[in-house]
Amino acid sequence: MASTRAPVRESRSLRFYSEVLGLERMNYGIWNPGDELTFENLKRAQQRYEDHLVERIPHDARRVLDVGCGTGVLSARLLAAGFDVEGLSPSPAQQASFVARCDAPFHLCRFQDFEPAQPFDCLVMSESAQYVPLDQLFPGVLRCLAEGGTLVLSDFFTLSGAAGIQARSGHDLDAFRGQAEAHGLRVVAEHDITEAAAPTMELATDYARRAEIALDLATDRLRHRRPVTARVVMWIITKSLAKLDRQRPLIDPVAFRENKRYMSFVFAR
Ligand SMILES: C[S@@+](CC[C@H](N)C(=O)[O-])C[C@H]1O[C@@H](n2cnc3c(N)ncnc32)[C@H](O)[C@@H]1O
Repeated sequence: MASTRAPVRESRSLRFYSEVLGLERMNYGIWNPGDELTFENLKRAQQRYEDHLVERIPHDARRVLDVGCGTGVLSARLLAAGFDVEGLSPSPAQQASFVARCDAPFHLCRFQDFEPAQPFDCLVMSESAQYVPLDQLFPGVLRCLAEGGTLVLSDFFTLSGAAGIQARSGHDLDAFRGQAEAHGLRVVAEHDITEAAAPTMELATDYARRAEIALDLATDRLRHRRPVTARVVMWIITKSLAKLDRQRPLIDPVAFRENKRYMSFVFAR
């Protein structure tokens, strides 16, 4: 039986992004050097990153597939710019968000399972390629992209030699390049935006630290006033805190710079 917990979790995390953090987009963004670490500046960085992607979409492209379209903000912008856009994501929560924003087709599936009715002139994969197994990524691109079409792909990658939890997310950069070439995709442009994306991790680390302090203060009061209730609360949240602790290295900007590269590519077929 299909679990209903994943959609509930996704919808909760979308609400957390939009209603708690005030974010409409889900990517790392491109920060300017010296920007103060605030959520307002993160929003500006995400907008700048979106501009960076849009500039890379050929003006003469008509049909564009936004693969892993998140909340549909980029798709809505491309629709307004006159492109024929379709969105794709396996997340029902994102489908709801896309449909509310875009009068355009949406495909509720994984990219590796998608069979397009017609090829697209341009595929945009913004922080979604990492979720598609590497051996299925470029076969999927060839299924969806017209001859002469453009793939705009931006994501973080793992450097060879990366270890531990850092090695577990993002494709190996050398293997990714090899697979692209083996499938006949030519790099037209590439940018290393690791440094410009890293402040998002610094912000997340700072936010996690503050949240911990807030939690400590809240439970401290509870511990003094209602020790039994406090023990129950701590018992409930300890598992979540342990998971957060295990994942903390993922948002460590120093470990990220050592083990990862955030790359933006334009490929031609
Ligand atoms: C970090 S979000 C990026 C969202 C958006 N593209 C952006 O840049 O803000 C990752 C996206 O990839 C999608 N995704 C996850 N697994 C996928 C898969 N197998 N095929 C296609 N999209 C997938 C998620 O649902 C989500 O929309």
